[in-house]
Amino acid sequence: MSRHFGGVARIPGDPILGLMDAFRVDPNPVKIDLGVGVYKDSQGLTPIPRAVKEAERLLLQRETTKTYTGGHGDPLFGERLLALVFGEDAALLGAGLAGATQTPGGTGALRLAGEFIARSLPGRGIWLSDPTWPIHETLFAAVGLQVNHYPYVDGDNRLDVDAMLAALERIPHGDVVLLHACCHNPTGFDLGQDDWRRVLEVVRARELLPLLDFAYQGFGDGLEDDAWAVRLFAEALPELLVTSSCSKNFGLYRERTGALLVRCDDPERLQDVRSQLAFLARNLWSTPPAHGAAVVATILSDAALRGLWVEELDGMRRRVAALRSGLVEALQPFGLAERFAHVGRQRGMFSYTGMSAEQVARLRQDHSVYMVSSGRANVAGLDEARLGDLAQAIARVCA
Ligand code: LMR
Repeated sequence: MSRHFGGVARIPGDPILGLMDAFRVDPNPVKIDLGVGVYKDSQGLTPIPRAVKEAERLLLQRETTKTYTGGHGDPLFGERLLALVFGEDAALLGAGLAGATQTPGGTGALRLAGEFIARSLPGRGIWLSDPTWPIHETLFAAVGLQVNHYPYVDGDNRLDVDAMLAALERIPHGDVVLLHACCHNPTGFDLGQDDWRRVLEVVRARELLPLLDFAYQGFGDGLEDDAWAVRLFAEALPELLVTSSCSKNFGLYRERTGALLVRCDDPERLQDVRSQLAFLARNLWSTPPAHGAAVVATILSDAALRGLWVEELDGMRRRVAALRSGLVEALQPFGLAERFAHVGRQRGMFSYTGMSAEQVARLRQDHSVYMVSSGRANVAGLDEARLGDLAQAIARVCA
């Protein structure tokens, strides 16, 4: 007889991580996992990059302590990550106008940003793209922020920049707008440079605070190109927040490695903000997990390791791009190449396929193909040898 937990309601599993569990127990030997956003190689494995393995070997030899790293985490990691995101020669870094607080992954960075907004910028709402990563919705609601939406795709599954801009123009002054810096999750539709300039003008005119979620640097068009919008905003605006993740580009998923980056207009103000972040982090996780950040700092501090990592990351990016066009080609014999042509144009790991929740459910029931119910497919989980099978399954449920 329960005295305490009897009234606890059961809620559905996580919309994305829950798929991992369901896939694992599916006995079908030809099942296909296009759920959670992880990169898989042609063997269906999520490899540890060689640069990471080598950095780990070096760390094993060099590491002398396991003492705490401090509230903002590993300073070398912070310094290297700031340069990776804002650019090696960014003037704002030289002027001491940006800082990094290490967090458990990009999700930790988002949570820290949400807590900071709720505590230090009371009354500000947050605006998310519709659709967005489902955890954005629940995470910001959990910290008590008012969550609102701006349109992003139209009813025909096309990026709708005009509708987005029209909505941004109506956002109350001072509110926070979350923008996906590249490789939009879940759609894979990214803004072009002219679109970004237009968004910047609205953000500036309405004095909005941008929160740039940057989880896929290197998976769109390359490390530097993917940072273009972040750098445009960081140069043009006096204040902004960036959540950076090392999960995908360093293959460090379970090591929970990321950071909240803050750009301020004044070094003293930056320290004020950082004092709040350290306080909040202390109350959330005390100090961040060290290993992944030490790996990243090691790679980014060593020219040879960095070169190897960039090569490996470029290889993953090129392979995902080839899988995109390969899937469209495989759909050709079924007369579906045009209908799914957007898959070839989208960027990053994900494709918003345009398939309905009902079609996604049939893919899973009849063909053991696992996708998020929104119709999002993780293209980076595809196997080139199975593109024909997948195309056939898609053709069956779309018939
Ligand atoms: C995804 O959207 O699949 C990834 O960002 C992984 C996650 O944590 O959901």
